[in-house]
Amino acid sequence: MLAKQWFPVGRVDQVTARPRQVVLLNLRLAVYRMAEGVRIARDMCPHRGLPLSSGRIEGEQLVCAYHGLRFGAAGQCVEVPEKLAPKTAKCFSLTMFPAEERHGLVWTCLMPQGEPRIPHIASSFGASDTLDEANHAAEIQLQIEHWLSLAKFGFMEPELTTDPGYLSSLQSLAMNEYQRLLDAMNI
Ligand code: FES
Repeated sequence: MLAKQWFPVGRVDQVTARPRQVVLLNLRLAVYRMAEGVRIARDMCPHRGLPLSSGRIEGEQLVCAYHGLRFGAAGQCVEVPEKLAPKTAKCFSLTMFPAEERHGLVWTCLMPQGEPRIPHIASSFGASDTLDEANHAAEIQLQIEHWLSLAKFGFMEPELTTDPGYLSSLQSLAMNEYQRLLDAMNI
């Protein structure tokens, strides 16, 4: 169920062209920035399963650090080094996840459905939407907590939403995951 929830995986100002690994719901993700925006891929090269977060960005391509496969912005393999022939680029593509930048954070969802369900975090972010850490950390935590307490987890089966015990354990699992991610960002 939580795989359908949106979670923050980095602060906007910390996500750069240098790929970073973030663990979300026990899944390793590589988070990096390209010219057209943030990209989030499963942190596993389709060639030998090694982490893409060890790779680098060159132009508009993510280059795997191990044998040099190159992936475009949409996760498609665009070049296979000659030494790996006869594999063709078509054999390889990344599992990609959506990325949304809001409230100074980068958000993603492992099983997106429809519009992003991102907690509303009020106002005191400037027009640039960057994060003033000291002032807003507590506010973010409080507002996520408040949002979770109101969330009806609309993606759940109706019979589950009427079970208060199930709903409350889901909310506390979600809160723990939010807290763990925010801690990792020093928020
Ligand atoms: S593991 Fe990535 S290119 Fe081989």
